[in-house]
Amino acid sequence: MIYFDQAASSFPKPPRVGKEMAEVINSVGANPGRGGHALARKAAEIINQTRVKASKLFGCSNPKRALFYPNATVALNQAIKGLSWQEGDHIVTTSFEHNSIRRPLEYIKQKYDVSISFIQWNGNIETFMNDINESIQLNTKLITMTHASNVTGALIPIEEATKVAKENDILILVDASQTAGHLPINMKEQGINMLAFPGHKGLLGPQGTGMLLVEGNIDLEPIHHGGTGAFSESPDQPEQWPERMESGTLNTPGIAGLYAALCAYEEREDKNVPRETFLINRLYEGLTEIPGIICYGPSSNETRMPIVAFNVKNVDSQEIAMILDTHYDIAVRAGLHCSPLSHETLKTTDQGVVRASLSRYNTEKEVEVFIQAVKEITAAYHEL
Ligand code: ALA
Repeated sequence: MIYFDQAASSFPKPPRVGKEMAEVINSVGANPGRGGHALARKAAEIINQTRVKASKLFGCSNPKRALFYPNATVALNQAIKGLSWQEGDHIVTTSFEHNSIRRPLEYIKQKYDVSISFIQWNGNIETFMNDINESIQLNTKLITMTHASNVTGALIPIEEATKVAKENDILILVDASQTAGHLPINMKEQGINMLAFPGHKGLLGPQGTGMLLVEGNIDLEPIHHGGTGAFSESPDQPEQWPERMESGTLNTPGIAGLYAALCAYEEREDKNVPRETFLINRLYEGLTEIPGIICYGPSSNETRMPIVAFNVKNVDSQEIAMILDTHYDIAVRAGLHCSPLSHETLKTTDQGVVRASLSRYNTEKEVEVFIQAVKEITAAYHEL
């Protein structure tokens, strides 16, 4: 089969990811930070080395502020809900947000009566900057945005947003769900205060892993409370990070897999412009040459994420995905991709879009087979 649904979850993984996970399940097994014995110490070492590796890769100064969560959604919830909100506060975000940002923001809006400005991104940096600048209010507490659209692969210029955030002393939280593993990110250099990412997408790690990296001394209220291994005598959540922010047993096998994935990513020699970027540009160009195909998002370029969104004119996107699956054994994702805001922006709420998303393990051959399949499907609809 051809797996072009990498933006939902990557498959396959680097072989060492599964190997490490199996090794930890079969040979370590113990609870990290919950005992002084050898196996518990080994489990804790796996967790700590992953904090250090992630901090180094993404430019976070303090590994104790590299936090583990089951996915990017929980990491984003912690970052957003953990801030100290007051009635009348204001938030800036974009019209391309996934529900993992949009819904926590709506929750905060309803609970604390804060207001939200949604900025459009139409490819023009100057307009984007102006719109953010104009939206800033005295009580703006947070700018939060996706680093790239999970629907179109369009990269959002977060450097510009971090500049505005810094000038106005506002925190910025970036959702790197579609960029981590595809694009170098450095929190310190790019001025990012909080960065959330999943392990299982571009980084090619396992599901059930996600991280929130926090730069500087930002104070967050934990959204979960419970056992932290250390400081057990206190009825209150400890002050010390990471314990304060991580209650309950961590996913040691998953985090071991994530560590292996981070190492595999670190060793990539094509980190600046990864091979999947070339593949996606070829795929995009092939699709634009097919009469009756509408493509959304940016044209081919070196910074587009490995995602292409398209439709066969006047045909429901789910129908095309079903034909690709059943007749061609090709996996894509159609519909709204948990991002109704993006579809309102693209005016594709009714039709949805077909999304093809790639990883380093996809091939030129698969891209050509895909283009041919879409050509045949489109021709069949046009003949009707
Ligand atoms: N957020 C994932 C996607 O875009 C699941 O498909």
